[in-house]
Amino acid sequence: MHGTIFAELKKFVTEKAGLDTWNAILEKSGSKRTVFLVTEAYPDQELVALVGAASQLLQKPVPDILQAFGEFIVPDLAKIYRALIKPEWGLLDLLENTESVIHTTIRLKDPAAEPPRLKCSRPNASEVVITYTSQRKLCPVAKGIVKGLADFYHEKVDISESSCMLKGDSQCLISVKKS
Ligand code: HEM
Repeated sequence: MHGTIFAELKKFVTEKAGLDTWNAILEKSGSKRTVFLVTEAYPDQELVALVGAASQLLQKPVPDILQAFGEFIVPDLAKIYRALIKPEWGLLDLLENTESVIHTTIRLKDPAAEPPRLKCSRPNASEVVITYTSQRKLCPVAKGIVKGLADFYHEKVDISESSCMLKGDSQCLISVKKS
C-alpha cells in the first residue's frame, strides 16, 4: 500500500487522538517504524495491524475507523492529485472517472501504486454505481472517500451498499445517488 496512505493514517490518528495515541498504536501493532515515506510502499499487512491496534485502543470497530479515515484523506488526495481532477467535474463525474482517469494514471505514473480497479457506471444522470472487488476489502474506505468527496463538492448524496465482500458477497456494489 502506498506510503501516502500510511502517512495519512498517522496524520488522521494524531489529529483526532494525539501523537501519544499514534505511538501507542505503532507499538501495539508491532511496528518498528518511526516514519512512513510517501515515496515508498509498505506491506498491506502493516496497515491491517495498525488499524486493528487503533480499533482496540480507541474502542471503535475497524470499519468505522476505515470509513472515517477515507473521509479524512479526501482534501489531501484532492490536493496531491489535483492535476487529475477536471475543473468542470462535479461529484458524480469524478466518481464515474475515478477508474478510467485517476486510478489508471496513478498506476501508470507510479509503478509501486496499486489503487483498486473500480468499475463505475452511471445508470442515470443522478446516480453512479461503483463495483469494488479489491482483495484488501477496504470498502469502508471507499464509502468514506465518497462521503469526503461529497463534502468537497458541497453535494448531498445517499450512499448505499447492496452487496458487500465483508458480508461474504463476491463484490461490493456501492450506489451513490443525488438526494
Ligand atoms: C480524488 C480522487 C482519488 C484519488 C486521487 C485516489 C487515489 C488513491 C491512491 C493514491 C490510493 C493508494 C493506492 C496504493 O496503495 O498503492 C488509493 C487507494 C484506494 N482508493 Fe482511490 N483515489 C481517488 C478516488 C477514489 C474513489 C472515488 C474511490 C471509491 C469510491 C476510491 C477507492 C480507493 C480505495 C478503497 C483504496 C484503498 C486500496 C484498495 O482498496 O485496494 N478512490 N486511491
